[in-house]
Amino acid sequence: ARRLSAVPQGHPLHGAVRDSALIRTLGGLPAEHAPVWFMRQAGRSLPEYREARAGTGMLEACLTPVLAAEITLQPVRRHGVDAAIFFSDIVVPMKLASVAVDIVAGRGPVLEHPVRTAADVAALPELPDAALDPIREAVARTVAELGGTPLIGFAGAPFTIAAYAVEGGPSRDHLRPRTMMHADPAAWDALAQWAARTSGAFLRAQVEAGASAVQLFDSWAGSLSLADYEQHVQRHSADALAAVADLGVPRIHFGTGTGELLGAMRDAGADAVGVDYRIPLDVAARRLGGRTVVQGNIDPALLDAPRDVLHEHTRDVLRRGRAAPGHVVNLGHGVPPGTVPDVLSELVTFIHKETR
Ligand code: CP3
Repeated sequence: ARRLSAVPQGHPLHGAVRDSALIRTLGGLPAEHAPVWFMRQAGRSLPEYREARAGTGMLEACLTPVLAAEITLQPVRRHGVDAAIFFSDIVVPMKLASVAVDIVAGRGPVLEHPVRTAADVAALPELPDAALDPIREAVARTVAELGGTPLIGFAGAPFTIAAYAVEGGPSRDHLRPRTMMHADPAAWDALAQWAARTSGAFLRAQVEAGASAVQLFDSWAGSLSLADYEQHVQRHSADALAAVADLGVPRIHFGTGTGELLGAMRDAGADAVGVDYRIPLDVAARRLGGRTVVQGNIDPALLDAPRDVLHEHTRDVLRRGRAAPGHVVNLGHGVPPGTVPDVLSELVTFIHKETR
């Protein structure tokens, strides 16, 4: 709360946004109801998204400001969620740095040349500041339409970015990046530093253009031991989060399968820690010493269960969330593409009623 009141006038954290349920909760302050948003709320579950995207590649959509703004706004209009999350992707800053990367439907990010050696790392292009202009424009257009609803900016964390870069595409166990950090720690360090600079610049551009909070996605950090996380990853994630530290916006740090890493992820410089569905929120809150705001962790699988089953699960999540000094309600991971949109809209109403 102290940090938030230090925000200068004219910054995105003004007026209604500053008093919003999301920003108050992230600051450890009471709110009118629990804030709720959904990871991957913009996307294939929405018919209006599929229509807007028709004939346009994923990365092209991300780099077309009018389209990126429209897609970002769609779930706010439809579901009444308490935050927008910027429509983009964790590999967008790589693309803007001229790395040959594409997002293949049904598969994920794929690099033309995987980054496997010290020479590959040394050849990675830097992200020019001007390349971020389409991101700035998309954020500014979005914020102009959002009014009092905050926009969350985001970036991929260095490990998750490096996991795609080294593998060259999605993988299950992330063996190659985990090998690299031990087999060639200097090359690993240089790669993680590049990723931290690139993601940090991407985050900073979004906040400077009007985002009121950020989330760092370390989606695959759960494949790491705590020792590897502390020795080879944490300081790089701290660098990415530090890129926006002086701007005074709250920072959320999320990963999946990270029950053993929650404290280390908080200590990288986060105000709130995202928790996946594998660990109950009260357990997560205790592991965080009862002093850190948590986000999560409705199991996405339950979205397709009968409504009373989903409601009972959600009540349990809300109850457990009270063990933390603040709870931002979300799913334990992204919205599955087959989700019926009305289920999400109804869930927002239910959560607001239960927590008023
Ligand atoms: O609503 C939102 O959450 C905002 C937009 C967003 C996207 N990707 C859009 C997207 C965000 C925050 C991301 C982050 C992202 N991208 C992560 C971290 C979050 C997580 O899920 O753990 C990761 C690991 C990626 C990499 C990535 N991009 C994957 C694995 C995929 C899925 C590939 C597929 O088709 O199944 C993507 C593509 C992607 N990113 C889509 C969207 C809406 C689907 C593209 C499409 O509609 O064709």
